[in-house]
Amino acid sequence: MSAAMQKRQDALESMMRAAPVVAVVVIGKLGDAIPLARALVAGGIHAIEITLRTPVALDAIRAVAAEVDGAIAGAGTVLTAADLHAAEDAGARFGVSPGTSPALLAALEKSTLPFLPGSATASEALALFERGYRLQKFFPAEPAGGVEYLRAVHGPLPGIGFCPTGGIRAATAANYLALPNVVCVGGSWLSPADLVRAEDWKAITASARAAALLRGR
Ligand code: 3PG
Repeated sequence: MSAAMQKRQDALESMMRAAPVVAVVVIGKLGDAIPLARALVAGGIHAIEITLRTPVALDAIRAVAAEVDGAIAGAGTVLTAADLHAAEDAGARFGVSPGTSPALLAALEKSTLPFLPGSATASEALALFERGYRLQKFFPAEPAGGVEYLRAVHGPLPGIGFCPTGGIRAATAANYLALPNVVCVGGSWLSPADLVRAEDWKAITASARAAALLRGR
């Protein structure tokens, strides 16, 4: 692996290990971005994956990156080279994809953004590992095999660390975090749409605090 890729992976790992959980958020209203990020950081959750699924997502990344001390604003749902460049321009500190395609991989080769690419099978995981991605998002975690999948791939693929995401909730996160090949888990359960709509930032901080206390390895 090149020294540059090594550095990029180390930077990603330190962000992914900032807390046991990466908050996956969907921002529908730009005004929610800063209070939501502040609520998560107040509870001890730092890495915030703002999904590029809404028209205000890039502005939300910009706002959180500029205004929220302690937040590590990243871009989720990065599907294309254009998404990657837009995330970089907005100041995202990391990017996440649900899966990978040849076009996205080609764009990533030319980028220095710490990036967590998605895989859901041993073949996909190995192909990414060959390119230097030793940390990967296992997505969609619950439907794609959950804890049992991760336990099964640890033997043959010991060098890969995963951030499982997709269907994980407060009650199941610890089962994942107990595995040796899990670096963190991702999930949207910290900021459910009803709490965001109600601007119940205190409840979100309480969920974040509980998540921050989950034991990682
Ligand atoms: C994602 O958007 O990356 C995941 O779908 C989040 O999954 P969750 O909403 O089930 O936590």
